[in-house]
Amino acid sequence: MNLRSFCGLVLALLYLDTAASIKVAFSPMWIEGTPFVYANKNVYKADTATSVSGGVASLGSAELGGNAETQGLIQYVNHKNYRLIYVVVEVTYRLVANKAAGIKTLADLKGKRIGTFQGSSAEVFVRMLLGSAGLANSDYTIVSGNVCMRAPCGANTFPSQLKAKQIDAFGVWETAVELGVEALGEENAVIFKNASIYREVYSLFATQQSLQDATTRKKIVAYVKALNETLDVFRNDPEKVYPMVSQAIGVDVPVLRKVWPDHVWGPGSLGTDLVDYLYREDQYLSKANKRTAATRDELEKFIDRSVYEDAMKL
Ligand SMILES: *[C@@H]1O[C@H](CO)[C@@H](O)[C@H](O)[C@H]1NC(C)=O
Ligand SMILES: *[C@@H]1O[C@H](CO)[C@@H](O)[C@H](O)[C@H]1NC(C)=O
Repeated sequence: MNLRSFCGLVLALLYLDTAASIKVAFSPMWIEGTPFVYANKNVYKADTATSVSGGVASLGSAELGGNAETQGLIQYVNHKNYRLIYVVVEVTYRLVANKAAGIKTLADLKGKRIGTFQGSSAEVFVRMLLGSAGLANSDYTIVSGNVCMRAPCGANTFPSQLKAKQIDAFGVWETAVELGVEALGEENAVIFKNASIYREVYSLFATQQSLQDATTRKKIVAYVKALNETLDVFRNDPEKVYPMVSQAIGVDVPVLRKVWPDHVWGPGSLGTDLVDYLYREDQYLSKANKRTAATRDELEKFIDRSVYEDAMKL
């Protein structure tokens, strides 16, 4: 073989190697995405897994996407080929309120200013939680702000807005809520949560086309297996992952320890309960976004249990 064809071969192998790797899209900013960081680095050995910033909306260019069920449902409207194949973590979102604003019960949030991220799972949480106490959207004002992951929190973040009385309460994912409690002082804070009304079902998504392609499917099944092993560590041996999580998303370990119990690491159930849960959330989302709701049959198709079942056989 001459030098020229040797170089050609090396290039071809390099190309094959990139082509063989699996891309996982998720937000690198939140706790929920950190199992991918761990799995890609330490557990997934079938080939290489690459992390890219994104989520379920990245499925055009990545084989896998991690996101809250809310974003999954929003994408499913125009992408009926998307599939929810695994539940990574279920997070009981929390709403923290300032007692000094006269808040003891959810109903006391009537007329108050409430911080959240509009258009996200956090807004769905706030609306559904307050709805459960009989409050309509017009009964309170939603205020925008930013999430804070580590103290000191900037002036435009929810914990600082709460402390400065610009808002009376806020609801979003962690660690912001914990930092809100700390900003007020635990004795001045009241926390509301109810997992049966709203919990984030942070999931892994893939397209039907990827799942039908034998080569890609094999990698996805191996990935789900690796992710499932990873979550054993997240669930049973968290001290082992705190330093990695802390470094990956810029949070302090003592704060992580406090919010960990609100994170139930997979494998979550892909059963009928999940269909019911998604159905109920989509009823809310379809009204909010003025569109037709997904039928129960469509949501049954949205969930593909076969990948997990195949992973069980490995
Ligand atoms: C949570 O919500 C469910 C369903 O609305 C309700 O039955 C239950 O009492 C609530 N739990 C708490 C602790 O408020
Ligand atoms: C995933 O982990 C759970 C808990 O450790 C285990 O029971 C289950 O068999 C695992 N599933 C797969 C596909 O490996």
